[in-house]
Amino acid sequence: MGNILEVVGVEKKYPGVVANRDVSLQVREGSIHAIIGENGAGKSTLMKTLYGLIRPDAGSIKVFGQEVSLKSPQDAIALGIGMVHQHFKLADNATVLENVILGSEPSCFGFVIKYDEARKKLLEIAETYHLDIDPDESLSNLGVGERQRVEIAKVLFRGAKILILDEPTAVLVPQEVTELFENLRDLVNKGLTVLFISHKLDEVLSIADDITIMRQGTTVVTKKPADTNKKELAELMVGGELPKPIAGVQNISKTSILSIKEASYSRLDGREILHDLNLDLHGGEILGLAGVEGNGQSELIELIMGLLSPTTGSVEVLGLDAAHTHTRDIRNAGVAYIPQDRQRDGLLMSAPLWENRILGHQFATPMANGIWVNKGAAAEDSKRVVEEFDVRTPGVNVLASALSGGNQQKFIVGRELSGDPKLIVAAQPTRGVDVGAQAIIWDHLMKARSHGVGILLISADLEELFSLSDRIAVIYSGSIVSILNPLNTSPEDLGLAMTGAKSA
Ligand SMILES: Nc1ncnc2c1ncn2[C@@H]1O[C@H](COP(=O)(O)OP(=O)(O)OP(=O)(O)O)[C@@H](O)[C@H]1O
Ligand SMILES: [Mg+2]
Repeated sequence: MGNILEVVGVEKKYPGVVANRDVSLQVREGSIHAIIGENGAGKSTLMKTLYGLIRPDAGSIKVFGQEVSLKSPQDAIALGIGMVHQHFKLADNATVLENVILGSEPSCFGFVIKYDEARKKLLEIAETYHLDIDPDESLSNLGVGERQRVEIAKVLFRGAKILILDEPTAVLVPQEVTELFENLRDLVNKGLTVLFISHKLDEVLSIADDITIMRQGTTVVTKKPADTNKKELAELMVGGELPKPIAGVQNISKTSILSIKEASYSRLDGREILHDLNLDLHGGEILGLAGVEGNGQSELIELIMGLLSPTTGSVEVLGLDAAHTHTRDIRNAGVAYIPQDRQRDGLLMSAPLWENRILGHQFATPMANGIWVNKGAAAEDSKRVVEEFDVRTPGVNVLASALSGGNQQKFIVGRELSGDPKLIVAAQPTRGVDVGAQAIIWDHLMKARSHGVGILLISADLEELFSLSDRIAVIYSGSIVSILNPLNTSPEDLGLAMTGAKSA
């Protein structure tokens, strides 16, 4: 097998940051090639360069041995390179088929879209690569795993031979990861090449044929899974030993700080999303919430934050009736919230970091100054967050959009753990962060717990649930179906409970 893709000496600078320097990469045709590295190591930058979204300052790229100049994604697509982004780019108000053809509509004389032809082609692709998708389904009905298959189909529809996936598994639950990997195997068995980024080392070791490690903007080495292990990969990424998480002190209080009783919630169309849900969380406790996405987690969070009111039942947060309390007052009472969709709910992407520090905390110290915002204090405190949470950025005046995905996440977590929260609602707190940053965030959560803070940890990462939780509640079809003790539960049992199977 020859190299389908070769990168030599690629460099990309941003003001104050060298995102890529002296990058070299050889990707074998028909292989699954993983790229790993710390947050901000330059992985997405390299992938965007290969997809023609970024023009490198120096270096060369060869596709099938030919040096190419990629000025735009159109150039990349013409050469058979397709990309699925870290944050999906699909239109919610359109069908799967419409999304797939968007931007490459097969047309007759340039104006009539040939839907039948496109549908046929999409169905062929779906069958060839065993991608489970329905062309006529509305995108708004799809979960994350399905959306990802649509993104993959979209890339294949354009004739991609090299498929680039930026952190495809970060948003998936374990069963979906297995499905995705089966799909990727199918793709390479049929001659395609897959290049993907991941922070999950176990996963990379199990699926990749080659693993390239990036550190501080450059490619360090490429390894074969058989010749390396998790510890070595982690050390190659950080350039030293990993920080060890400290175990917290257990200090669970008698008072319940979150108490949900028989809460149900139905949407306007009458569909019941939550059904007689009961949940109790005490100070000093981490309560894990496990479940396959779409079983009511988002609505449960919205009930707690006072964004939705239960149809029946009650939600009490720090002694407040959440249904009749403004979200702002819930926050001010001491509820911190780490949202799962960082770009949509967690950040103003086109605002500088210091402004993002204020977001949701306009009325809290140290930012509030009467009715005014104290910019200096916000900037000062942003610097503290950047330092404590190891956010890699040239400063607090840069825009949130200039931070790498994992560094955006670290900033949000740092902001939400500021001030003295009594309850932390943490949805996927370490999604997309590297192993070192994960250890830092876990540490902070454990510390908060030993100080008596109650934490509701909503996570798709079973390792995270097992490592942090005092109890794990399983949500299925809008109800809590079991409460498990992580010390005597196996990951398999938990997985089973998540699918709604009754525990023995
Ligand atoms: N548009 C931009 N403007 C300024 N700096 C940028 C921009 N895009 C990326 N950077 C910087 O380049 C560096 C590499 O970012 P990149 O997104 O490639 O990291 P990454 O390895 O993908 O990290 P993560 O694992 O967090 O996604 C980071 O320091 C980031 O802040
Ligand atoms: Mg990235």
